[in-house]
Amino acid sequence: LRKLVRFGVSINSELLGKFDELIESKGYAKRSEAIRDLIRDYLVEHEWEKDAETMGAVTVVYDHHVRELTESLTALQHEFHSSIISSMHVHVDEHNCLEVVVIRGKGSKVKEIADRLISTKGVKHGKLTMTTTGKGLV
Ligand code: NI
Repeated sequence: LRKLVRFGVSINSELLGKFDELIESKGYAKRSEAIRDLIRDYLVEHEWEKDAETMGAVTVVYDHHVRELTESLTALQHEFHSSIISSMHVHVDEHNCLEVVVIRGKGSKVKEIADRLISTKGVKHGKLTMTTTGKGLV
């Protein structure tokens, strides 16, 4: 059983008002639950710095007509096949493709692979979302 701790926070009333408004619109019934979610999110976001086991989802958007781009992205995924768990390809329109690549491994490795994918010449937009295996979360 985990012990619950209460703590007090001094905060500008205007700032708290804005926070309450936002969390209410997101459906939180209680401020405590929103604050717990924020703390968890912050911890997960920084987990990679400790080089813990993490999960990452990279989204890249690119034009498949750009010469050798599709091949480069595929080659990269084969290079890191032991870390890349899954990928999904969506043909967005006549030109654009969206790919979601899920990576598992030490935080620094996940970031390295994501950076390689995102920085590939011709990728229009790329974003890494770091998450956790859930093990360390309470
Ligand atoms: Ni496509």
